[in-house]
Amino acid sequence: TEAPDLVIVGAGLFGLTIAQQAVEKLGVRVHIIDVRDHIGGNAYSYIDPATGAEIHKYGAHLFHTSNERVWEYVNRFTDFTDYVHRVYATHDGEVYPLPINLGTINQFFHAHYTPAEAKALVEEQAGELAGTDPTNLNDQGISLIGRPLYEAFIKNYTAKQWQTDASELPASIIKRLPVRFNYDNRYFKDTWEGLPEDGYTAWFEKMIDDPRITVSLGTDFFDESQPLNKKALLEAGVPVVYTGPVDRYFDYQLGELKWRTVDFKEVRYDEDDHFGCPVMNFSDADVPYTRAIEFKNFRPDRADEQSHDSTVVWEEYSRFADRDDEPYYPINTDEDKALYAEYKRLAAEEPQVVFGGRLGTYAYYDMDKVINQALIAFDKQVAPLLER
Ligand code: FDA
Repeated sequence: TEAPDLVIVGAGLFGLTIAQQAVEKLGVRVHIIDVRDHIGGNAYSYIDPATGAEIHKYGAHLFHTSNERVWEYVNRFTDFTDYVHRVYATHDGEVYPLPINLGTINQFFHAHYTPAEAKALVEEQAGELAGTDPTNLNDQGISLIGRPLYEAFIKNYTAKQWQTDASELPASIIKRLPVRFNYDNRYFKDTWEGLPEDGYTAWFEKMIDDPRITVSLGTDFFDESQPLNKKALLEAGVPVVYTGPVDRYFDYQLGELKWRTVDFKEVRYDEDDHFGCPVMNFSDADVPYTRAIEFKNFRPDRADEQSHDSTVVWEEYSRFADRDDEPYYPINTDEDKALYAEYKRLAAEEPQVVFGGRLGTYAYYDMDKVINQALIAFDKQVAPLLER
């Protein structure tokens, strides 16, 4: 077989979008490698045979965007359900709607405040630390929404996410805590949202459904026993799009970028519906996990294909990641930012390699942002390499 015109490291949304564009716009031959045994990167999902639920293997993925170009692009490969994301929180034996809205506030204070009254109350409570400059997350949270709501819904949840007491976390972790003074509890504010009708994996397969795109799974870019490895490709002068961790590419020579990870604990219940919603947050310290995902409830439209006497729930436990853990959320301290800036400089000096995606640029991006970046990177960085 002939050598490919382009090798893409990583079959996540960044890599898949680049592959699709390369074939459609330039008609080149693309080979994608991924160290995992499936495509789709972190957005991959599979059907749980026992319940028929579509499980998002690397954490719940909801598609939402206000970017028209991206919305049109993704609709070429899949239809979307009319799912609208809503989240609830259990606090002190009661269930509240999130994000904090007038329903949350009136339930919490056993009141019937109007929007203006609730706003005045929250402003008054947020004034507790007026005139001081919040240095830790605790003071920041109180200054943003007042102590009662902060302590009920934010403090312990955030401490569990970071495995660190809120008084020891930097204020910068939370810049805003939006409170809605009406009963709107629609989670996302985007123009479009939904879940891919036939599941995430069918969407991703459709993107690369072309004989000029080939895929090798279980293939590590750094494994020199397989032919499409870093050393061999650089020597052969093959253009590469790399979406793995940028520090790993440079063998961690400047140090390691830090991430948080999430451990998932699967729990099965012999009942049709355990929570009555897809996402239940647990705001209190006595429950060790941050939230639980009941996957069946993302797809009420699949009632006929899902079990009605069993359901599967994943509890999420958050912690700092080691090198062997799945990196999920960049920690992004000032030290991390400075280190990434140095790696970025090194990356810019690699003439035939384009770095992209969340791992390649050390950032948290939603799926629509990653697709948008890949569309732009293809035109600006990848196409010029292929046209040389
Ligand atoms: P992604 O990580 O998906 O793909 C990179 C690929 O590179 C991986 O498949 C990896 O195996 C491969 N790779 C790495 N090193 C390699 C090597 N050495 N050799 C070969 N392959 C290698 N977004 C959203 O819009 N809505 C949502 O609800 C969520 N929810 C969500 C929850 C959680 C817990 C996280 C962490 C993230 C989200 N996201 C999200 C974000 C979403 O996951 C993200 O936008 C995409 O996964 C990014 O796609 P990438 O291609 O950049 O990376």
